[in-house]
Amino acid sequence: MDPVRNPYAPGAGQRPPELAGRDKELAQFEVTLERAAAGRPERSMVLSGLRGVGKTVLLNALRGQAVNRAWGTGKIEARPDRSVRLPVAQAVHAAVRDVAHRHRDPDRVDQVAGVIKAFALRTKLEDRKGIGWTPPTDVPATRGRADSGDLELDLVQLLSDVGELAGDLGVGIGLFVDEMQDITARELAAICGAVHEISQRSAPVVVVGAGLPHLPVALASAKSYAERLFRYVVVDRLPREMAVRAWLRPAAEEGVAYDEDALDLLYELTDGYPYFVQAYGKVTWDVAVASPVRAADVREGAPEAEAELAVGFFGARYERATPAERDYMRTMADLGADPAGDAVTTAEIATSLGRRPQSLSPARDGLIKKGLVYSAERGTVAFTVPHFGRFLRAQTT
Ligand SMILES: Nc1ncnc2c1ncn2[C@@H]1O[C@H](COP(=O)(O)OP(=O)(O)O)[C@@H](O)[C@H]1O
Ligand SMILES: [Mg+2]
Repeated sequence: MDPVRNPYAPGAGQRPPELAGRDKELAQFEVTLERAAAGRPERSMVLSGLRGVGKTVLLNALRGQAVNRAWGTGKIEARPDRSVRLPVAQAVHAAVRDVAHRHRDPDRVDQVAGVIKAFALRTKLEDRKGIGWTPPTDVPATRGRADSGDLELDLVQLLSDVGELAGDLGVGIGLFVDEMQDITARELAAICGAVHEISQRSAPVVVVGAGLPHLPVALASAKSYAERLFRYVVVDRLPREMAVRAWLRPAAEEGVAYDEDALDLLYELTDGYPYFVQAYGKVTWDVAVASPVRAADVREGAPEAEAELAVGFFGARYERATPAERDYMRTMADLGADPAGDAVTTAEIATSLGRRPQSLSPARDGLIKKGLVYSAERGTVAFTVPHFGRFLRAQTT
């Protein structure tokens, strides 16, 4: 069918034509926004799940809800070995800009901008590398506020000030943090401490984090009360009904239908993983000649869908691994770490490779840092990428 009218959207962070299966989270977040703006106590939120399940897209949708309510919003994408201070300053600055022009007291706005600047200027030189943003130059940095160098204290002051500014307008500030698992344990502890403090003050500030499946564990080990601090949402593959909705609704807008056995086959091949749902949907559409889409179309398109996933989804990640890390992952795959989420023990891997467990730590740590593998429980590892074991096993055969 006409590729120009193809509605599907495979790709990291690509907004799907139909955000299927997330109605509950969206509805819940409306309540959160409403409550926070009214100064009622409300928990911040953490989304966790494997790669390609739709965390970034959901995070963006939640941000969109805040924007619709005229909140100030900002987003950061955490990176390993990089302090969050400057990215947070940048995001908070963006959020304040969203609301500042509606504020009646320009002096207050300038004062808050000065606090953001003071906060930003405490960034160490090595943490500024690669970030083009610099703090506002048109205001002087305030002294003695958000500039102690202690991230937790500084965050509390920064967030209460911006929260108050937004509160003057009856709205709030939303901070959205993607790849949150890449934040160091120290900084995660500081963020938890700050979120705890500002929520006790009922400041209209909401932090929403998204990250890999071990993010809740990382938060809990950073601060013991993290479990009560956030509302945890596991983002997962779609049940059949929702995957079907993700294919049918966008197609219906183009006057296209699907045979029931085409949907059966699509679901079987994709397992309902959102990235695969979009990838297969896209290829199948291009292969099909007319509506309704048939199982034969799905079958014909499948090798191309797999080939595209092998390059765009699996390959891009696999390429980043060193030879030793690849051996490690191959062994994980052979031991059955698939479908993703199924953990294998590091002891099994060592035995299988005929090595001492300690000698494999660099490979394991490297893979965790590269976000290919995660460890939610001591002594175990699992793939962050669904169907990755299957992909690896197909590599050498
Ligand atoms: N709820 C959903 N329904 C349909 N497709 C989705 C849904 N969530 C995500 N997708 C699609 O899945 C792919 C991966 O989404 P993304 O948010 O980048 O995942 P993650 O951040 O978890 O790795 C994108 O192509 C996106 O369009
Ligand atoms: Mg993402």
